[in-house]
Amino acid sequence: MSTTLRTLRLASSQRTALRAGPSHVLKLANNVRYNSAAATGQDPMTGERVQLPDIEVYGPLSVDPSATVFHYAHCLFEGLKAYRDTDGKVTMFRPDMNMKRMNTTAERIAMPTFNGEAMVELLKQLVSLDKSWIPDQPGYSLYLRPTMIGTQPALGIAPPRQALLFVICSPVGPYYPQGFKPVALYGTTEFTRASPGGIGAYKLGANYAAGVAAHKAATEKGYVQNLWLHGPEHYITEVGTMNAFVVFKKSDGSYELVTPPLDGLILPGVTRDSVLGLAREHQTGKINVPELSDKLVVSERSVTMGEVKAAAENGTLAEVFGAGTAAVISPVDRIGYLGKDIHIPTGPDGMGPVSRPLWKYLTGIQTGKIAHPWSVIV
Ligand code: COI
Repeated sequence: MSTTLRTLRLASSQRTALRAGPSHVLKLANNVRYNSAAATGQDPMTGERVQLPDIEVYGPLSVDPSATVFHYAHCLFEGLKAYRDTDGKVTMFRPDMNMKRMNTTAERIAMPTFNGEAMVELLKQLVSLDKSWIPDQPGYSLYLRPTMIGTQPALGIAPPRQALLFVICSPVGPYYPQGFKPVALYGTTEFTRASPGGIGAYKLGANYAAGVAAHKAATEKGYVQNLWLHGPEHYITEVGTMNAFVVFKKSDGSYELVTPPLDGLILPGVTRDSVLGLAREHQTGKINVPELSDKLVVSERSVTMGEVKAAAENGTLAEVFGAGTAAVISPVDRIGYLGKDIHIPTGPDGMGPVSRPLWKYLTGIQTGKIAHPWSVIV
């Protein structure tokens, strides 16, 4: 990933929190202590220097080799995009959702949390500075990667008392520059992505590191990505690093758009939430997504490979796709499952009857063609 020139860095300790304010200082959660820290630049209890948010030229970090990130995987991240519309206006897509999830993820590994609203304001400052890096072509955007690492030098395993929150940016092009290219998935039964009570529902670096071997195994078998299955029932959970969607065609002509529920095994994806939100608003008549069937049922429910295989065989499988920030929608045309390939229908453009209109509408919002509160002006 090529990177742009600036990094937004915030350092914090376990007891600090970021509060909104004109100077965007990083401050202690307790007001008395904050006021003192803001005035002196020091934590009055420990004397440690309180580092203020800073936007500086992109460059290497200096981190102690005993920092907990290197030993105990105190690392979490987010991914979101900033777009430039045809009028030159720059927007970010649902940054509040990313900041909310980042805090939920931080809590899961006892890392410091922060004020998400204040962080959105800082993201706006970073994007304003680096907006010239958003290529002036359709489908291009600036990918923002907020990251938090445990920087406390300690060999003991405990909540890190020091952490660094930084944000880097990278211009990115359209995921499918030559039009949609459906992918073939390998139904992974040899590895598990998430387990009840585990960490699969959080955007922790460890989840992604643990997924690389499964992806590699899938590519060695001739597939593009792996499909994470769970339990003896082979529940569909996620598509590589994306949320999974399946569309069934019912006998009354309606479509059922299905995605697994947020039961602790599934990452609460922003694109997942947006796809479901738009589909539900269309279903209830609040919006009209052009070309999307009016007979649409939206289900957050478990779905097994057995159900998908049976539907492919009896002609009621309409489509399968992944949804994530990077690709937005990624159609699937084949799933390798227990030694055989299941073929999934795709349209001439690679997409399906439900994903196509939803993708058009969603990217219309992201690129400013459709006005929507999800687009936050920088
Ligand atoms: C996404 O698909 O949006 C992701 O989160 C992928 C990212 C890890 C590169």
